[in-house]
Amino acid sequence: MSRLSRCLSVRDFELEARRILPRCVEGYVCGGTEDGASLDESVRALRDIGFRPRGLRVVDQRSSQVSLFGQVYAMPVGFAPTGFSAIVMHECDLALARAAQDAEIPFIISGASSVPLERLQEATGKRCWYQAYLPGNVDRIAKLIARLRQAEIPVLVVTIDTCVGANRENLQKLAFTVPFKMSPGVVLDGMRHPRWSLDVFLRTLLGSGVPRFANLYEEIGPPITQEPPNGFRGERDKLSWEHIRWIRENWPGKLVLKGVMHAEDAQLAAEAGVDGVIVSNHGGRQLDGCISPLQALPDVVAAVPAGLPVMVDGGFRRGSDVLKAVALGASMVFTGRPQLFGAAVGGNAGIRKVTEIFRSEISTNMALLGCRTLADVTPDLIAPVRPACAA
Ligand SMILES: Cc1cc2nc3c(=O)[nH]c(=O)nc-3n(C[C@H](O)[C@H](O)[C@H](O)COP(=O)(O)O)c2cc1C
Repeated sequence: MSRLSRCLSVRDFELEARRILPRCVEGYVCGGTEDGASLDESVRALRDIGFRPRGLRVVDQRSSQVSLFGQVYAMPVGFAPTGFSAIVMHECDLALARAAQDAEIPFIISGASSVPLERLQEATGKRCWYQAYLPGNVDRIAKLIARLRQAEIPVLVVTIDTCVGANRENLQKLAFTVPFKMSPGVVLDGMRHPRWSLDVFLRTLLGSGVPRFANLYEEIGPPITQEPPNGFRGERDKLSWEHIRWIRENWPGKLVLKGVMHAEDAQLAAEAGVDGVIVSNHGGRQLDGCISPLQALPDVVAAVPAGLPVMVDGGFRRGSDVLKAVALGASMVFTGRPQLFGAAVGGNAGIRKVTEIFRSEISTNMALLGCRTLADVTPDLIAPVRPACAA
């Protein structure tokens, strides 16, 4: 049985990917910050919600389609932005963009990605969303926006939970740094994982050279082994609501804030004129000890005007997880690590299989819940899972 056919679930992909990837790459993809509490909480919160399914409803013709920002997507699952994905698969950004396009789901280009956004746009009929790590500096923001307008990016996603780099102790222990630095430990790690060294490391170096900070600012930046001009995180700690209001006046496309966890921030976002928010704690990779995005979701939904799309990410590994978020009012669920696990295990085919797993699980579980469309996935179908009563 091939590696790919052994993987029947996203968890299977994760286990297989952890075997293939060098420890420092595994640590980068899978890890969280400090004690990993935000990461654990996202998974636990999904288990704390159970279904209350309905029976005897005709469910023969189901559709998981969703309309968002003038597009119809095949299901309420999209690819979240994941920086440095080139260390998981050669030209991973391109593979993710194409797989998303074929599956008719949204794909968000990361500001820390390495295939130029213009090339990704070209490959996908100009459908990619773009995620920005913005400095609190209007001149620099304006230059990036000019590039995004030129590339006809339809949706600009501004990440608001990374004003400073988080305390990623696991990466310090594995000597993984940004900018990327070769150390004897990293070389040894690569040698112990020959498949990765050949398929990813050597193929990338020989094919296109050291990946670059291609999409961080207004032009293609230096290789990821060097600090970009103004620094990777330069002036991010100065970003404020004033900048968001300025962007709203100067960006004609859709504007989304990612990393909204507080109802008041959701309200401020709506007042600033954004078109949507993504409830997220950055996959447990920024502030540790956060409540789960799933727990934050209902308050955010209640805080924004009806009809303003509220999206969510963090810990979604099953179609049933996605449906729980939909029942709580999410318009779209984004995944970060799952498609990277797919890429590590099976390249293009791996990413596509992960996407297909979500599609098929959503369809099956909609039927088992008694739902034909996502509009049928209503809050009454879920309830908190209570601890068993003592005898
Ligand atoms: C390897 C990796 C890189 C990431 N890079 C970015 C990024 O460049 N920009 C961003 O806004 N979020 C980034 N994130 C966070 C994801 O967009 C998303 O919020 C998170 O992964 C969702 O959790 P999940 O991985 O459990 O699905 C990254 C996450 C991972 C795992």
